[in-house]
Amino acid sequence: LPVTKRGVTWKRSAFSISLLFFRMIHTGASDLIITPATTFKEKPDPTGLVFGTVFTDNMLTIQWSLASGWEKPYIKPLENLSLHPASSALHYAIELFEGMKAYRGVDGKIRLFRPTLNMERMARSARRTTLPTFDQNELLECIRKLVEVEQEWVPYSTSASLYIRPTLIGTEPSLGVKKPTKALLYVILSPVGAYFASGSFNPISLWADPKYVRAWKGGTGDCKLGGNYGSAIYAQQEALEFGCQQVLWLYGDDHQITEVGTMNLFLYWINEDGENELATPPLDGIILPGVTRQSILDLALNWGEFKVSERYITMSDLTSALEENRVKEMFGAGTACIVCPISKILYKGKHLHIPTMENGPELTTRFLNKLSDIQVRCFLFYNQIK
Ligand SMILES: *Cc1c(COP(=O)(O)O)cnc(C)c1O
Ligand SMILES: *[C@@H]1O[C@H](CO)[C@@H](O)[C@H](O)[C@H]1NC(C)=O
Repeated sequence: LPVTKRGVTWKRSAFSISLLFFRMIHTGASDLIITPATTFKEKPDPTGLVFGTVFTDNMLTIQWSLASGWEKPYIKPLENLSLHPASSALHYAIELFEGMKAYRGVDGKIRLFRPTLNMERMARSARRTTLPTFDQNELLECIRKLVEVEQEWVPYSTSASLYIRPTLIGTEPSLGVKKPTKALLYVILSPVGAYFASGSFNPISLWADPKYVRAWKGGTGDCKLGGNYGSAIYAQQEALEFGCQQVLWLYGDDHQITEVGTMNLFLYWINEDGENELATPPLDGIILPGVTRQSILDLALNWGEFKVSERYITMSDLTSALEENRVKEMFGAGTACIVCPISKILYKGKHLHIPTMENGPELTTRFLNKLSDIQVRCFLFYNQIK
C-alpha cells in the first residue's frame, strides 16, 4: 500500500510515544521503594530450626498487570496477602516458586550461589504457566537488596543459611481458566539450620512404586510449579506408611529412576561396561534442572577422574548392579541438603540395600565439602572451577 508522507510521520511518532511509554512502565531495581520494618522479631538459634517456619521481618513484592506491566518493587514489612477469593493461583495452581540460599562466608561476606541459574529457571517456569516474565537481572538485584536489608538474618554459621523463596502467583480475580491478567511476585526469606546435625550424614530410605508418577513427557515436571508438589504429597504419605522417608519417583514401563522426593538423583557405580561412572537422568522434560545437579556435573567433569553421564537408569539396571556388587554410592542433590546419601530402597516388596555409607560415602562427602567450600569457605569461586 502507498504510504503518504503524513502516514509515515504519524507512524513514527506513534512508535516513539510507545517507546517512551515502554520506558515509563519498564520499572526495575532502581525504582525500589524501601520502607523496612521498625520492629524486629527475635532471631532464632539456627540449630533447632524446622525448615521454612520462621520468616524475616521484610519481604519484596512487585505487582503486575497486563494493562500496566510491572509496578515499582517494594521492600516492606512481611505481611499477610490480601487476595480475591477467585484468584487463579488458588483455583488452578497458576503459581511458581524458586529456592535458593544466601550464605555467610568465613570472611563475613554474604553470597548467593549461582543465582542467575535460579532466575533463568524462574523465567522458564513463568513462561510455562503463562505468568509474566521479567528482567532477570533486575529481579536478582531486588533480591540482593532484600538480603542486604535482612543481612543480620543470615546465620553467623557455616552450616546454616538464609533460604530465599521467590514466588509468582496469578491473582486474576476470575474463575475463567485462562492466562492471568494480574499477578504478584514476592520474595520471602527464612533462616534454615544445618540439614545434617553434628556434621554426620543421616542416609535416607526410599519407597519406589510405579503406581504414582511425579512428572511425564509434555507435563510440567521440569518447572518449579506449585501444582507439581501438592500432588506429590499423597505418595510421600504412603512412603512414610511403609517406613520410608522419601519417594523414589519412577517413570515408564521400564521403571526408570528419575528423582528422589524433591531432589535430583545421582548414582556412582561401575557401569555395564566396567567403567567408573557418575550417572544422573538426562533433562528430557521430566527432570527438574537443579542448580546443585548442574554444579555436581560441572565439578565432576572438571575433575575428569571418572565417566560423567546424563543417562537413563532403570530399576533393573540398579538391581543387577546391586547383585553384581557394582553400586558404590547413591545420593539425592538439592539446595536444601546439597547431597543426601541413600541407604535403602523398598521396591516390589523387597528392601534393596544400597551400600552408600559402607563406601565412605567417599564421593558424596567430596561433593558436600567441595560445594560448601565454594558457598561458605570462600575457598574456590565458581569461575575458578571452569
Ligand atoms: C528444586 C528441586 C530440585 C533441586 O534443585 P536445586 O536447584 O538444586 O535446589 C530437584 N528436584 C525437584 C523436583 C525440585 O523441585
Ligand atoms: C496473618 O495470617 C495468620 C494466619 O492466617 C494469622 O494468624 C495472623 O494473625 C495474620 N496477621 C495479621 C497481621 O493479620
